[in-house]
Amino acid sequence: MRFKPLTGFRDFYPAEMVIRRGIEAAWHRAAQNAGFEEFDGPVLESFELFAAKSGEEIAGQLYTFTDKGDRQVAMRPEMTPTLARMVGARANGLPKPIKWYCVPQFFRYERPQRGRGREFYQWNVDVIGSADPASDAEVISVAVDALKALGLTADDIVVRLNDRRFLSRMLKTLDVDEATEPEVLASIDKLERDPAAVKKLEERLGSKRAEKILSWCERFPIDEADELKPVLEACEDFGLGAFVEADFRIVRGLAYYTGPVWEIFDRARSLRAIAGGGRYDELIKSLGGPDLPAIGFGMGDVVLTELLRDKGKLPEDPGRVDVFVIPVGDEMRGPARRVITQLRARSLRADGPNAAIKLGKALKLAAQSGATRAVIVGPDEWSNTQVKLRDLNSGDESVVNVEEIERS
Ligand code: HAM
Repeated sequence: MRFKPLTGFRDFYPAEMVIRRGIEAAWHRAAQNAGFEEFDGPVLESFELFAAKSGEEIAGQLYTFTDKGDRQVAMRPEMTPTLARMVGARANGLPKPIKWYCVPQFFRYERPQRGRGREFYQWNVDVIGSADPASDAEVISVAVDALKALGLTADDIVVRLNDRRFLSRMLKTLDVDEATEPEVLASIDKLERDPAAVKKLEERLGSKRAEKILSWCERFPIDEADELKPVLEACEDFGLGAFVEADFRIVRGLAYYTGPVWEIFDRARSLRAIAGGGRYDELIKSLGGPDLPAIGFGMGDVVLTELLRDKGKLPEDPGRVDVFVIPVGDEMRGPARRVITQLRARSLRADGPNAAIKLGKALKLAAQSGATRAVIVGPDEWSNTQVKLRDLNSGDESVVNVEEIERS
């Protein structure tokens, strides 16, 4: 019997790993450049944590089971409830604002499609203990910094910003009561993906009010949107003017958001959201922790990889090694091993054949390894404790001491 990965799960062969690590490197760098510290939590949590805090959609997608101690547990589908739990437990001892990030793997039982799997990596960047709109803008800027580092520009991506408080206030002007609001918000959230959403709005609110909402979606009522202005202004200071646009359709599916909410999309709108986030000022308190405001976002690797592939901007393979060390003849195999050991000790990525092979074959292996240079260990040079350094692109050769070989 032959086994395949489960539907929605991925194998990462080295070529895919290069892409994932390239993306992750940009994530780590952007977060660290902005002073965020890395953290992590458990892959498995109590079922209730997510069932209660993630909102209906994610709760319905949980990978969940009863463990041998009869506890109902769930594989993590997102980080925010875990983060809120961890911060809540130690909040008093942590200097504020808390600026934390992580790059965990998540599991959601979704219908696999382009940009959606049942397993994915998601970069999370969160600030806890700041109610200032500048912090909302700061996390947006960190998200954009990583995308820029990966080669994307304001022509490729857009940050679509809205505010839950603004949405509520505007719906109140249409006499949408509190009980009806979640349903209406859910329809607005689905307007772009689900043709039935317009119909639902019309059924629930009548065609006049539905039309008004649709017109706000087409043309954002910016003059009335006082709630958004401080974040938009701070975004300008962070140099995000070309990236950020106010958009009435951004609601976010998750239940815990309380203020500004935003998502990043490709401009061509051929893909689902690359990232999504917002302010969740009540979550930590609702988990029994202190009353601390919080904001953050999650950016997944799946959609981002698709976009980078479409744009021809996938992270490049840095090759397996810097130098490939080749012994000339059997008696040079020992010296070649010593050269390799010396290079590795100096943090050069070095490899070479352990078996006796001909020079021509060894040079072929050198080219396959991704090395830009070969070190040829021959008896003549070695008698002066030197080696031949060959540029594998130009074919140029020089005789050097091993210590002279630098990282390229
Ligand atoms: P989310 O909108 O559920 O937010 O996910 C954020 C991003 O994760 C999405 O935009 C998408 O790129 C990626 N993603 C989500 N589900 C999948 C999937 N099944 N397959 C591939 N990629 C996926 C959250 O998770 C919030 N906890 C983010 C957050 C952090 N809010 C505040 N802090």
